[in-house]
Amino acid sequence: MTAGFSNHTASGSVASLRVSSSRISFKMPGLLSSPVFLTFICFFSWSLHPSGARTQPNEASDVKYEPLDSNVTLACGNSQIRLPVVWHLNNSSVLPWHKVTSDGRLVLLNVAQSAQGDYSCYDNSGLLLHSVRLRLGYPPGELKISCQVPNYTHVRCSWIESVKTFLPANYSAFIWGNVKNRLPCVVNVTSKHCDVNTETFWQTHHTLEVNETNALGSWTTYSRFRLHDLLKPNPPESLRAKAQEGFPKKLMVSWNYPSSWPNHSGFPLLFQMRYRPLGSEYWSEICSEDSEVEIFDALAGHAHQVMVRARDEVNSGSQWSEWTHIILVKPWEDPSIPGPEETVEFPDDLFTFSTKPETSTTKSHNPNPEDEGNLGLVILLVLFSVFILTTILSLVLVVWVRRRRKEPATKQELTSMVKMKSMPI
Ligand SMILES: *[C@@H]1O[C@H](CO)[C@@H](O)[C@H](O)[C@H]1NC(C)=O
Ligand SMILES: *[C@@H]1O[C@H](CO)[C@@H](O)[C@H](O)[C@H]1NC(C)=O
Ligand SMILES: *[C@@H]1O[C@H](CO)[C@@H](O)[C@H](O)[C@H]1NC(C)=O
Repeated sequence: MTAGFSNHTASGSVASLRVSSSRISFKMPGLLSSPVFLTFICFFSWSLHPSGARTQPNEASDVKYEPLDSNVTLACGNSQIRLPVVWHLNNSSVLPWHKVTSDGRLVLLNVAQSAQGDYSCYDNSGLLLHSVRLRLGYPPGELKISCQVPNYTHVRCSWIESVKTFLPANYSAFIWGNVKNRLPCVVNVTSKHCDVNTETFWQTHHTLEVNETNALGSWTTYSRFRLHDLLKPNPPESLRAKAQEGFPKKLMVSWNYPSSWPNHSGFPLLFQMRYRPLGSEYWSEICSEDSEVEIFDALAGHAHQVMVRARDEVNSGSQWSEWTHIILVKPWEDPSIPGPEETVEFPDDLFTFSTKPETSTTKSHNPNPEDEGNLGLVILLVLFSVFILTTILSLVLVVWVRRRRKEPATKQELTSMVKMKSMPI
């Protein structure tokens, strides 16, 4: 490789340049020329046209690749042709914007995607002279490359196309620190990335070369970086936390090394753990080389959020991993002091635990105060009506009793009055 890197920067950013873009003529891909496929085509076309007179299937296997938005010329075979000829697309006489030249060639003007398909030309007796499959797209262009380095030996680089080509492509990729030691980077075509294990990690700069080739051309993109700058471990795994019995302000938090990090003392990681009471805005942090840390200043009686991330300890220019998911933990509480029941770990979803534990504890411990108020009111009403009822009843009783008593009294009065009247004055 003689290409020079003109504008790269030392900070590991990517410098790329175009090296070659060549046309590649493309005929007869493997599948179309395979005997099984041809036999199938023969049988298929024979069953469609029982006369068999119009079909010459060998010619249908021709595929022509052309750039979109260009003028495409299709020839009606190379043999001497009987003019005039008729062109069809997908067995229909409806063609995109075109003209037919005096020698029978079809010129498609400014082709769009909709112009793709199977073109065939017939002489005026209806005999098929030639057919060709047209596929349209663009030659490859610059790739946008990014690399992930999860440990000291592994590099994965992925890319996205800056030009959508619409055509199938092949890729080849190499990585090197020193041009004499070019290592192939193993390509995964469908997910558009490549993987390589490099032993030359300590070299200051590495270069990745990715070549994309399709039927219309090829393009090579170069990317230069420092693996040290890209080194970014995966997040620690199996984060867990527990309360410590007898200590209402202590929590014990632990985790495992990421499984993609070599788990021996030669490659220590530095961990950053942070925690806060649920609902608080501010995190407290503890840095540690161990994968186990004790919190001494937890807020008693409160659930806490905890998470952790990791970085290579030796090389401070490398990147922090992503944070782990958040876990939730509550310090130990004295069971003799009544309070919400002890809960230890919840799933990491912030939203669920901010609402769930509260509603569940209020329900299980003190009945809803509003319900209590309603019940009291009902009892009061019942008592009041009972009271009213008994008062009315007893009033009625008193009136009735007095009436019964009064009746004989008036009789007595009457007789005494009569007696008095009859008395001589
Ligand atoms: C295609 O042909 C048309 C008409 O002949 C012409 O005007 C146009 O410039 C051509 N386009 C290209 C991309 O060559
Ligand atoms: C012709 O057929 C091909 C598939 O073989 C299809 O992709 C294309 O859109 C068709 N073109 C038209 C104009 O119908
Ligand atoms: C480095 O990471 C890759 C990808 O995750 C993994 O396959 C490989 O085993 C790791 N290497 C070591 C030494 O752990």
